[in-house]
Amino acid sequence: MELRVQQASVTEIDTPLLVVSVVEGQTQPSGITSAVDAALGGQISRLIAAGEITGEPATVTVIHTDASPGLKAQRVAVVGLGKQAELELENVRVASALAARKARDLKVDSFASVVHDPGTSGLSSEDVARVTMESSILALYRYEQFKEATKSRHEVSSCTIVEPDAGRARQFEQTAELARITCDAMMKVRDLSVGPANFVTPTYLAEQAREIAQKFSLEITVWGKDELRAHGMNAILAVNQGSAQPPAFVALKYAAPGTSKTLAVVGKGITFDSGGISIKPADGMEYMRHDMTGAATVLGFVQLAAEGKLPVSVLGVFAATENLPSGSAYKPGDVFKAYNGKTMEIVNTDAEGRVILSDSLAYAAEQKPDAIVDFATLTGACRVALGDHATGLMSNNQTLADQLLAAGERSGDRCWQLPLWKVYGEQIKTAMADVRNTGGRPAGAITAGLFLKEFVGDVPWVHLDIAGTAYADGDQTYVAPYNPKPGATGVGVRLLWHFCQAWKDA
Ligand code: BES
Ligand code: MN
Ligand code: ZN
Repeated sequence: MELRVQQASVTEIDTPLLVVSVVEGQTQPSGITSAVDAALGGQISRLIAAGEITGEPATVTVIHTDASPGLKAQRVAVVGLGKQAELELENVRVASALAARKARDLKVDSFASVVHDPGTSGLSSEDVARVTMESSILALYRYEQFKEATKSRHEVSSCTIVEPDAGRARQFEQTAELARITCDAMMKVRDLSVGPANFVTPTYLAEQAREIAQKFSLEITVWGKDELRAHGMNAILAVNQGSAQPPAFVALKYAAPGTSKTLAVVGKGITFDSGGISIKPADGMEYMRHDMTGAATVLGFVQLAAEGKLPVSVLGVFAATENLPSGSAYKPGDVFKAYNGKTMEIVNTDAEGRVILSDSLAYAAEQKPDAIVDFATLTGACRVALGDHATGLMSNNQTLADQLLAAGERSGDRCWQLPLWKVYGEQIKTAMADVRNTGGRPAGAITAGLFLKEFVGDVPWVHLDIAGTAYADGDQTYVAPYNPKPGATGVGVRLLWHFCQAWKDA
């Protein structure tokens, strides 16, 4: 869908659907909505008085304008933002997404939206504009690559942000460019994440990385089996042993103009996780095609950094492989030496994510970045602890952890910290090697984090367990209307963008 900005008065804009908003508890619409109300002869006020428009969050009312003199829009959608005093960016995200979905349901070709006037809420109009734009695009995302006969017939082709003030309209033009490239990156993550494992293979992920490198002239390293062997990346090779698909290790570097900090972003790239010899139950196993979402997040974020000329250099790293059982598969009890020389005992082949991440993190740490952030659909335990609404955050550096937690609040990709206390480390001790790959069921997300910590040396590092947040299901849980249901969310891209904007001068 195309996103445009147009300087125009709301009454002058010619559109099948114009989106405006009201807050809860108002008897009269305020700001830009009051102009629309006046042009409609007070119809919005009357619907408020009748209790039909309440302004409650996640509500939308469509009014046909018929031949209202002084209003060119054919319909007006009034979305609720909730109480003025409680207004958060999330309310705007939800309202904008619902309006976009309404446009699609009404089968209109395009719609227009105002930037919901923040009034006295303390939100900046810049932020409100950005999330309005992003949510409008993200809400209309669908993955239909493999649909043939049942493809959806109707797509909304454009969304226009209307802004009467010329200066603000010019400013929103830049906001729109950022929103476009942010959503492109997120939708790439969604496509890769949800794509079937016979299509999104390790080789395919490496090709995607090459495409991004070529498009933005980035430095790229891609290693296959031979190079992994030559470099001693035995942990990645161990997980790959059971698979007929060759593994791929990718390092992709965006160098920011001038001098800058470097952030290494590392992702888990298991293109299918059957559990291996410690095989998973059949029920729901198909979802394990999304176990490469960490790697997809790396690709999406590097693309956004390059396209958006982020003032921070980014080193994207991921290893990709399937985790399958076979006569050559790695086994419980096996011992392997990782890239940094540490040895690990495999106790459960289904704890494969931390195994491939060990080599990737050690490689990233060796490049001496200013910080490392990793993304991994790592543990069911994290999903049990936090559900679908927070990414599990663990770190060896509280300053960095706090910066990511803050970016989580700003971006909407919320994170919640779990402790990496030393006492939990007892659970991953073994007589057989330096560390073992599971610590039992108690504190499963934390012991996984402690395992990873063995491979980052003294580089400030944050581990983000996205097992709960990467994919939205919605059977028994809330799914925000800007996310597909079911489908991949694209979590992490905006988190890192906001993090880097603050971190660059920190
Ligand atoms: N990819 C899974 C974790 C996962 C589960 C992600 C559900 C998304 C949704 C991971 O490789 C895994 O199997 N973890 C095991 C670890 C255990 C064997 C220590 C788990 O969480 O059960
Ligand atoms: Mn697993
Ligand atoms: Zn996994």
